[in-house]
Amino acid sequence: MTWHSRQLAQQNGRTFVITGANSGIGLEAARDLSSRGAHVILAVRDVGKGEQARRRLPGPGTSSVVELDLADLDSVAGGAKALAAEHSSVSALVCNAGVMGGPFLLTAQGFERQMATNHLGHAALVFALWPLLHAAGGRVVMVSSIAARGGQLSARTTREQLVEPAPYNAQRVYRNTKQANLLFAQELHRRTGSAGSPVSAVAAHPGVSGTSLFARTLTDNGWSRLAPVATLATKVVLQSAAAGAMPTLRALDHSTPSGAFVGPARFGQFRGRPELLEVYPTGSDPAVAARLWELTEELLGTALPV
Ligand SMILES: NC(=O)c1ccc[n+]([C@@H]2O[C@H](COP(=O)([O-])OP(=O)(O)OC[C@H]3O[C@@H](n4cnc5c(N)ncnc54)[C@H](OP(=O)(O)O)[C@@H]3O)[C@@H](O)[C@H]2O)c1
Repeated sequence: MTWHSRQLAQQNGRTFVITGANSGIGLEAARDLSSRGAHVILAVRDVGKGEQARRRLPGPGTSSVVELDLADLDSVAGGAKALAAEHSSVSALVCNAGVMGGPFLLTAQGFERQMATNHLGHAALVFALWPLLHAAGGRVVMVSSIAARGGQLSARTTREQLVEPAPYNAQRVYRNTKQANLLFAQELHRRTGSAGSPVSAVAAHPGVSGTSLFARTLTDNGWSRLAPVATLATKVVLQSAAAGAMPTLRALDHSTPSGAFVGPARFGQFRGRPELLEVYPTGSDPAVAARLWELTEELLGTALPV
């Protein structure tokens, strides 16, 4: 059935944490939720950019900024602690921030940068915010991608393949990170279901949308002179960032069940209204999801307290 954002209820009294909310799809989702009266927390690595974005939120909802660099687990822990000091519950955590491509770089904890940012940092944040999510009967939304279709994580993936992949192929790693987002949502859904937890988990993908993601990839690869061209071209050719945020908003709608996967279905899933989709084969194998979960807990040195 066709879904429209007007179906999403007013969100007064509800608190949303959105990672990477200073830009692109995260900012558009924040704007929409703010217009519905929500309290939106922009979880960002650059507080200056976060404050700038916060001033662009329409209201009447309230908002705040928390510093949180997903590529640094100490920063994730610090951001989660700051959130817990201010809030006793979180209605939804939108794991939206992401990087695509770029050179091989290791994070402070020695993990490959894309996997650390897109998957591990978000998993750590979910674990750290669990009491707040539990208190609200909240929802975790993982922003994946059509790139997840090409992910190569398997039930035999090793620690090295996940966080120290060699030889380094940036696009392959990006696909694996987005597969990891999808697998993580599915496994979280299974685990909360069997534990009788009130927390739900949904994955979304934004089609292909005109955000800064592609220009940033060029900059990260040392081709910053091409970035303005990429920004302009993507804005003309691709669907808007606001359209890219629609699957996230549908994922937050109470009519969307835990375990669902939301995204556009048209033009090879590149664009269109958010629909309930079949989970890609790369994201639906419980054995692969369980392996990713095991590695994730091992790398983070902590377990989900369901
Ligand atoms: N655009 C698309 O077509 C498309 C397609 C499929 C999936 N996606 C996914 O959609 C999500 C949002 O991307 P977007 O398209 O909106 O791109 P974007 O405009 O580049 O936004 C990415 C956001 O992630 C933040 N970020 C990057 N590294 C971070 C870190 N270490 N800690 C905290 N925040 C960090 C960025 O913050 P800074 O501004 O500080 O860098 C920015 O706010 C990503 O997960 C992406 O994989 C996008």
